[in-house]
Amino acid sequence: MIFLNGQFMPIEKACISVLDRGFIFGDGVYEVIPVYSRRPFRLAEHLSRLQHSLDGIRLNNPYSNVQWHELIEQIIAQNDGEDQSVYLHITRGVAKRDHAFPDVPPTVFIMSNTLLSPSKELLKSGVAAVTASDNRWVRCDIKAISLLPNVLLRQVAVDAGAAETIMIRDGYLTEGAASNIFVVQDQVLLAPPKSHFMLPGITYDVVLELAAENHIIHEVREISEDELFSADEIMLTSSMREIMAVTRLNDQPVGTGSPGAMFTQLHQLYQQYKATHMRGGAGE
Ligand code: PDD
Repeated sequence: MIFLNGQFMPIEKACISVLDRGFIFGDGVYEVIPVYSRRPFRLAEHLSRLQHSLDGIRLNNPYSNVQWHELIEQIIAQNDGEDQSVYLHITRGVAKRDHAFPDVPPTVFIMSNTLLSPSKELLKSGVAAVTASDNRWVRCDIKAISLLPNVLLRQVAVDAGAAETIMIRDGYLTEGAASNIFVVQDQVLLAPPKSHFMLPGITYDVVLELAAENHIIHEVREISEDELFSADEIMLTSSMREIMAVTRLNDQPVGTGSPGAMFTQLHQLYQQYKATHMRGGAGE
């Protein structure tokens, strides 16, 4: 079951106009919210990032946070699976093709898919990544539905048999095609600072909070390309993939070539945090 413009319906029944500005211009924003044991994880933070994205494209928020909350609860209840990923999508609506903003209601779409946590095998082996030059626009902090650069960049990884593309802009690490990236150098966890060049990841925030609470030495600062290539460990984070070790970069091993001690500790802390959330504690 999905939600489209005020109504719940089976996905097969859902139709939008070919003049929708999402279809014509990629003119819209989205969110992906993980749901564990039927409880949305970090919902307040996702809704606040949604507001930031809407403000960034000058589109009014069609719902209050209370209304979003209700809609998301309903979509979760109407779909199978204890763990789901809820996708919210808002476009500037349907209008005759013209770049200027129309005066029409937005299109609002919500769907939910089963959320599969990374497999034991992948957690044990880690994943491969490749690097590429970050050729996206300079408002990567907006979670825009126009993802063509990200799609092309991710395909670079897929073509190389890798799981993610890590992007470099002007000699510095920005993020993955659909993830944030952390680096470990000499037992210090390094994270690039939030800026217009990366999406402010919700999982990224959780990892930094867990690091602070558990006295893990960490620094939020620019990470150079050289530091990325000489890293002891590299990790990626996202709502879909939680936290994963990157153990090969451009076909070379990262550190020992196996997930490192920092990954093991952060992964365990993340699982504990998730378990607290599922019992109704943290992360609401
Ligand atoms: N993507 N950076 C980019 C470019 C992303 O697309 C994502 C997530 C992240 C991680 O953010 P978060 O931890 O809040 O999921 C970073 C989602 C999952 C997607 O597009 O499917």
